[in-house]
Amino acid sequence: MTRILAVANQKGGVGKTTTVINLGASIAVHDKEVLVIDLDPQANATSGLGNEEADKKGIHSFISGENTLEECTVKTEVEGLSLIPGARHLAGTEIELATQDQREFFLAQALSESDLSRYDYVLIDCPPSLGLLTINALVAAHGVILTVQSEYYALEGLSHLMETVKRIKAHWNKDLSIFGVVLTMYDKRLKLSREVEFSAEKYLGKSLFKTRIPRNVRLSEAPSHGKPVILYDAYSSGAKSYMSLAREVMSR
Ligand SMILES: Nc1ncnc2c1ncn2[C@@H]1O[C@H](COP(=O)(O)OP(=O)(O)OP(=O)(O)O)[C@@H](O)[C@H]1O
Ligand SMILES: [Mg+2]
Repeated sequence: MTRILAVANQKGGVGKTTTVINLGASIAVHDKEVLVIDLDPQANATSGLGNEEADKKGIHSFISGENTLEECTVKTEVEGLSLIPGARHLAGTEIELATQDQREFFLAQALSESDLSRYDYVLIDCPPSLGLLTINALVAAHGVILTVQSEYYALEGLSHLMETVKRIKAHWNKDLSIFGVVLTMYDKRLKLSREVEFSAEKYLGKSLFKTRIPRNVRLSEAPSHGKPVILYDAYSSGAKSYMSLAREVMSR
């Protein structure tokens, strides 16, 4: 069965895109087929995977039903890892969507009309908001992975996000679950990181992945080379941590 997972947090810069790219690549190297959908108008997952922003056949034409999944999908440098490229004009799409019926269902609809059988995982990169694009991702997904940066206000935003997930579950997608929460940019030398970790463990229990993603400069350099970190520096702590997260995800 194909597992559709949205990676979300309305907070900006908390490691969503880094997680989509590197978790996707790390799952793919385990002989799995992974599709990344770039649903963020910033299109960072697209450039981080060495692709151009889509002008025509990308996420926009996929969710509007103009083109099929096959037509909108491109390959990446990692075998088994494919991508539906994002586009800046997706911001306009969000505004167009706002006035339409069934506006929460565009992505779910497009995916349900597609043959996903060759994919083991679909990972959706969400923008930093709880707007219609993120709602479309959560309505289309089986589960959500929340990335939480190991810093002071991180957990406050989380309760808001949990509420949104509950609301979406109640109205539009009863099967949606919190697949897991991952602590990113973790630095065990910092008291603050350890404090956030402690509260997260208490508050989230089993939802919290055991893997911590450390702050690692290789993770921040890799996107400018258009590569996931395993192709950029496979021995870095960042690469190892996303491999470990991939194993946890595959065993859940
Ligand atoms: N573990 C990490 N170690 C070091 N740098 C990181 C790490 N994770 C992410 N970064 C860097 O932090 C910045 C924000 O990360 P990222 O783009 O993944 O966050 P995001 O949640 O997708 O942001 P946005 O909300 O804008 O989409 C990027 O410059 C990224 O390279
Ligand atoms: Mg992002």
